Amino acid sequence: MEKVINESIQGCSTSLIGHNNNIKKLYIESYGCQMNFSDSEIVASILRKEGFNTTSKLKEADLVLVNTCSIRDKAEQTIRKRLEKFNSIKQINPKMKVGVLGCMAERLKSKLLDEEKIVDLVVGPDAYKDLPNLVSQLDAGNSAVNVLLSKVETYADIDPERLNTNGVTAFVSITRGCDNMCTFCVVPFTRGRERSRNPISIIKEINDLWEKGYKEITLLGQNVDSYLWYGGGLKKDYSKASSIQKASALRFSDLLELCAKEQPKMRFRFSTSNPQDMSIDVIKNMAKYDNICNHIHLPVQSGSDDILKAMNRQHTREEYLNLVKNIKKHLPNCTISHDMICGFPNESEKDHQDTLDLMENIKYSFGYMFTYSERPGTAAARKLKDNIPVSVKKRRLSEVIDLQQRHSSERNKEFFGQVTEVLIEKTSKKSDFEWAGRNPQNMMVVFPKKYFKPGDLVQVKINDYTSATLRGVAIGYSKNN
Ligand code: SAH
Ligand code: F3S
Repeated sequence: MEKVINESIQGCSTSLIGHNNNIKKLYIESYGCQMNFSDSEIVASILRKEGFNTTSKLKEADLVLVNTCSIRDKAEQTIRKRLEKFNSIKQINPKMKVGVLGCMAERLKSKLLDEEKIVDLVVGPDAYKDLPNLVSQLDAGNSAVNVLLSKVETYADIDPERLNTNGVTAFVSITRGCDNMCTFCVVPFTRGRERSRNPISIIKEINDLWEKGYKEITLLGQNVDSYLWYGGGLKKDYSKASSIQKASALRFSDLLELCAKEQPKMRFRFSTSNPQDMSIDVIKNMAKYDNICNHIHLPVQSGSDDILKAMNRQHTREEYLNLVKNIKKHLPNCTISHDMICGFPNESEKDHQDTLDLMENIKYSFGYMFTYSERPGTAAARKLKDNIPVSVKKRRLSEVIDLQQRHSSERNKEFFGQVTEVLIEKTSKKSDFEWAGRNPQNMMVVFPKKYFKPGDLVQVKINDYTSATLRGVAIGYSKNN
């Protein structure tokens, strides 16, 4: 009742709170990790209930939201440039309001209002449910900030509005936050403590997606392998849980099995795995269920034991190599990808060579590679000097990238002449006559369209490859279609 009164008061022409006859337009842009893109879908859903329709036209927006990334300084600079662009549009449309969401909002808090004059609204990753209230503060002519981090919020009850969707693949969040405290990483500060989502709501979302025609789900979290459901609460409080709760606790391997069984015709992926938390049961369930894709994103960050220790990664190089050996033993067709940081404080040439040597040993199918960027407030920033010159960081990065490209080509070459199963996602970027989709190993495959359509699972015979793409010809539907 109170809400209705509120809305009628705000129903004047300048109000951002929309009504059936006063639909407002929301333009939302996302940067950074998949979790941010997934969170934007939650934000769009929350604001739709407040009368906002999403638009892809910036100029016609009443509210512009940018979901931001703080992982490296460059990511923040990109967003600041984007805010300048929004500013130029605000000159034409002064009623337009601009909000910053996500990790930059959490890191800089109300300082953002002073630093970026264009910003009216600052909302951290755990505060999106407060958006209706925050938007009404904007309506009242104020700026609004909520950066409270939560120990419980997982947005389990919100049905995300799928944005820019291909109608075939979707993300489903299963954990939020991270408790790992890698010394270089800002995420534990911006996304807070680790929380797992109720499996019942995960399965419900997956079933809804299947009903809507989706064929592949990526289970998302900063650290999916540490998923643990024992009735709610922080993972670290598990030690205090009752024996009944412990006996019925659900781990990530159990959740994977639950998903795979619930929708046997759907494909499942997951991201990201921290090697220290990956259990043999996850690997065994991947082997047991055909519909769990044979690809693991397994960031290592460095091949040197000294650097791994300084990064507070909880495994050695040898333990990592053993894990990879185990994966290959149970899943001979599984591809592995990585994240790598070049030029962490005190990284010597020998440490760098250890990284190249580890890559040579594993021959990853692909990777995301970065130069180290010092992030304020992290343990590395507080305790270690960012002492590797930019030129050295860049040279090491280019050596790592060159090696990865060679390995990607080699890995792709292994598919030459083979038949691989592809889920068609969309028209290829390069040709309207070709489909693009991924095989279970997460390799992009392009082939002539023929009579197939998005969402079809097809068998493709590979006849060409680059380091980034496989090319081939579809020879028929897959038995799993
Ligand atoms: N577990 C997370 C990792 C988030 S950060 C996930 O779900 O993806 C993604 C990658 O960014 C990290 O694996 C690391 O390689 C890189 N990264 C994080 N902090 C960085 C920093 N300060 N400088 C350079 N790269 C960084
Ligand atoms: Fe960051 Fe390490 Fe967690 S990279 S997101 S602190 S696993």
